[in-house]
Amino acid sequence: MVHQQWPTSHQQVGTCMLLSCGWTNRSVGLAESGLEKFYCTAVHTNVICVLIEQRCIALGAVAHLIQCCGKLFVEHCLYLPDCPSDVICIKSAICWRSDMGTTSRGGVYKVHVVNMSVLLAVAIVLLISIILYLVRDFRRPTNFPPGPPWWSWPHLAQELRHQHLVFQKLSQRYQSPVLGLRLGGELTVVVLSHDLVHQVLTREEFEGRPDTFFLRLRSMGTRKGITFTDGPWWMEQRRFVMSHFRQLGYGKQTMEAIMLSELASLVRRLNNRRCSTSGVTFSSCLAPSVLNVLWVLTAGTRISGEHLDRLLELMGRRMRAFDLSGGTLSRYPWLRHILPNHTGYSLLLEINTGLKNIIMEMIDEHRVLYNPENKRDLVDAFLCEMENRTGEKSTFTEDQLMMVCMDLFIGGSQTTSNTLDFAFLAMILHPDVQRQVHTEIDAVIGHDRAPALNDRRRMVYTEAVLMEVQRLYHVVPLGGPRRVLRDTTLHNYHIPQNTVVVYSLWSVHMDPEHWGDPHVFRPERFLDDDGGLVTSDWLFPFALGRRRCMGETLARNSIFLFFTGILQKFQVSSAPGTEPPSIEPQPGITLSPQPYSAVLTPRDKEY
Ligand code: HEM
Repeated sequence: MVHQQWPTSHQQVGTCMLLSCGWTNRSVGLAESGLEKFYCTAVHTNVICVLIEQRCIALGAVAHLIQCCGKLFVEHCLYLPDCPSDVICIKSAICWRSDMGTTSRGGVYKVHVVNMSVLLAVAIVLLISIILYLVRDFRRPTNFPPGPPWWSWPHLAQELRHQHLVFQKLSQRYQSPVLGLRLGGELTVVVLSHDLVHQVLTREEFEGRPDTFFLRLRSMGTRKGITFTDGPWWMEQRRFVMSHFRQLGYGKQTMEAIMLSELASLVRRLNNRRCSTSGVTFSSCLAPSVLNVLWVLTAGTRISGEHLDRLLELMGRRMRAFDLSGGTLSRYPWLRHILPNHTGYSLLLEINTGLKNIIMEMIDEHRVLYNPENKRDLVDAFLCEMENRTGEKSTFTEDQLMMVCMDLFIGGSQTTSNTLDFAFLAMILHPDVQRQVHTEIDAVIGHDRAPALNDRRRMVYTEAVLMEVQRLYHVVPLGGPRRVLRDTTLHNYHIPQNTVVVYSLWSVHMDPEHWGDPHVFRPERFLDDDGGLVTSDWLFPFALGRRRCMGETLARNSIFLFFTGILQKFQVSSAPGTEPPSIEPQPGITLSPQPYSAVLTPRDKEY
């Protein structure tokens, strides 16, 4: 044994780092005169600490023991003068205790001891991994669209608050209608011009959906449902739901009757609330009615009371909590273990569990009354399909049913009620337009009957107003995300398979070269000189192609009936002495107006 260069008493000669790896396990057997043994067991470690019956003895010296964060922190370890040369004794060490047992001779603890060379190796590996990760981020595939490195633009997101505005700014900066970047850790292409968005929506290789941690989390850890699936699974399920909606009178009488019944109860509620001095907050009145149209179509009955409030609250929080990419959680999924609250992970789990419970309860109720001879709604139809396919490998499972319901409620309720919310906001800001809508309602519908879907073709001005609302006030400014199914090209750029594609409906609907004055609310742009409706292939709020919105007809009809039905009864204005409502939307996956209150004046007293 060589005894050389021992530190002086209490001198600190090293610092221990607590890492989850890099520990050397040593079971230290205890003997009363065991110092010799300790030398032997610890001979290849840099730090040694032995715990005996809650006292710490490091190489024979007594040390203080402090319980800290569930770990044992050892202070004032003394070295032994005749310590072997390859044992370094330190003043402060963190030891991890586990596996306590007893022997006839006293307590025996297994002590994990830091081996500094292992630590160093771990640090080097970590450093290399970080460098490789960054290099991967910097490296762009050959002939990939231009765009910024990921670290260079988060400040823009803070400054502009809305992801679609950030992409627009970047598109101007790189003078390109297509951007290539990393979003949520994924190689992503953002498409902004009319022509390219059109191509993405109609070319089959852009029909996939990404399979990322964030999207799986949104789908409760599964890749089920419709919205976040692709391939044969998606096609079969989409077809099934669409055909069911058609059978139930999608766009026909049954759906209209459901909507009119909801409209009648909405008008009653508005009548009751309009007398309140604070006015009416549209968002809180519209959302339950719109959701109930969907709920009746899917589940056969209305939803009300606590369940309704809870469902709306959960969906509202979900809509505002994330952007399309999933933010930090998507980029660094592992952060959820360290910062579950800050990354939104806990929130998403809470929302998912809440939604799942409400939907599962509804499905369980259906099982009790289920009768294959009398299918009342989508859930019954799905249960019947499950029964028919018992024993075969099928996409019709209970999990799938739950996710389909979730897709419909999430995809359909906030989008439709937010569009209506924006429409009434526009009426407050543009009383002249509201007056013309009233005139048309009076001429076509009158006062004595409820509006009907058949009225739509004769209410050209109202249609133009609703088109302009959807052009200017976006509830879905960015569409997708899509996944490229095979290597392809777009705008002469190479787009590798599995690249995520996001398209900006906002950029198309607000393109100054096409619209001239895109920021102006002007329904007349959709009317020709003879007062006829001008449709435009530059306006597609429900997207296009085989993956276009599944609820387009339902949404358009709901928006028309609720809008005309309310304006038939009321004039809408802002409360006297208050600022007009802001047109700046609240950020989120789906945009909504900031809550505003409106004064509703019965039409017999108007103007
Ligand atoms: C104003 C109301 C609505 C707007 C603006 C809207 C917009 C959109 C858009 C742009 C997409 C395409 C996403 C993509 O390209 O991948 C989409 C898809 C979808 N929408 Fe809607 N939507 C609305 C209402 C509804 C309603 C009422 C329902 C429910 C019946 C619904 C259910 C869905 C579903 C399930 C999808 C996914 C389709 C698929 O991936 O195949 N949406 N919606």
